[in-house]
Amino acid sequence: MPDKVVRIGFVGAGGRTVREMLDLMQIPEAEVAALCDIDPPRCQQAVQRVKDRLGDGTATPGAPGIAERAKALRPAVYPDVQRMLEGTELDAVYVSLPPFAHGAIEHAIIDAGKAIFVEKPVALAPTEGREIRDHIAQEGVISCVGYQLRYSTAVQHARRILEGVPIGLVMAIRLGGLPATPWWRVQDRSGGMLIEQHTHGVDLMRYLAGEVESAFATANTVLLKDVPDLDIADVQAASVRFINGAVGSIVNSCALQPGQGSPPNLSGPIHIIAKDMAVMVSTGGLTVFRPGQQPEVLTAEGDPNVRMNQVFVEAVRSGDGSAILSDYADGLETFHLTYACTLSAREGREVRLAGLA
Ligand SMILES: NC(=O)c1ccc[n+]([C@@H]2O[C@H](COP(=O)([O-])OP(=O)(O)OC[C@H]3O[C@@H](n4cnc5c(N)ncnc54)[C@H](O)[C@@H]3O)[C@@H](O)[C@H]2O)c1
Repeated sequence: MPDKVVRIGFVGAGGRTVREMLDLMQIPEAEVAALCDIDPPRCQQAVQRVKDRLGDGTATPGAPGIAERAKALRPAVYPDVQRMLEGTELDAVYVSLPPFAHGAIEHAIIDAGKAIFVEKPVALAPTEGREIRDHIAQEGVISCVGYQLRYSTAVQHARRILEGVPIGLVMAIRLGGLPATPWWRVQDRSGGMLIEQHTHGVDLMRYLAGEVESAFATANTVLLKDVPDLDIADVQAASVRFINGAVGSIVNSCALQPGQGSPPNLSGPIHIIAKDMAVMVSTGGLTVFRPGQQPEVLTAEGDPNVRMNQVFVEAVRSGDGSAILSDYADGLETFHLTYACTLSAREGREVRLAGLA
């Protein structure tokens, strides 16, 4: 048994919490001790989904003890965060909520002195994000934001080879379908596709190419007008300018239909044109093109989401958060960029990022 087990609670027991619990089952130093949800039966359902996936021991060969840990999973269940914080001794809390529900819950966790893991996007408005960021800094709690792609071995390799190399152009593209989750299609509940989902691509842009100073975007609802209760843009294109002089393009749509698939190379990768180098990073790997050379192809190894959870758990155990690749303050900067693009599209003007921080 590990010296110290990190006792974890979750706020929100939806699809993302199931995924995080599945990954935490692979980490012996982590224990899922409590869940809370405004709809408490969802907590038991989430636990059952984990047991169904892992309890028979067949789902993840190579993860010793995982079936036993899944069978032993018996977190306390609460209807709200305050009762969870008072009722169960915890070291860390994952905030796994729809974007509109952020705010008071984070402040309660920080006030209780717990390490905090917030799923992206961290906020829906810059003011709310700034207040949480400043509260975290004031209390000195460890924070992490769920940008798991940063932990991909391919992304890490891209970051190494791009270090110090002048970058000219960055493209982030995501063409996909409409998630079924009802809040997702409502602008003031999810923030729209760019803030809610393509935030992963935008985050990689920042991680690999540096900070953006301004954005000009256009967006519209064209292809999903007939979908009931939908008011988000279904097509969006933004041009951004990086502080280092590079320019970038962020393009996304959620209008592809089920079964249509996505055109090759357009479902989430980042393309970077740098000095004597073109780099394409996707979730599965990396291809590097250099003059006069065969393309260098690298397949990503392991699961970046598991790695992110391992890093967070270890940070809480040791009290040293330096291996976390996106803390709350950093995750907020990615939100700022997606928010700037959304604001620009709404108001038809260039938005400077400095005005948001
Ligand atoms: N990093 C990733 O790849 C990834 C993948 C999926 C989802 N996410 C993020 O995770 C978050 C949650 O997404 P999801 O798919 O699990 O959503 P979901 O709708 O499946 O689940 C959200 C849960 O939160 C509960 N809830 C709402 N308000 C609450 C409150 N005030 N207190 C307690 N519980 C409350 C709901 O009842 C629901 O059970 C979103 O921010 C989403 O963007 C990240």
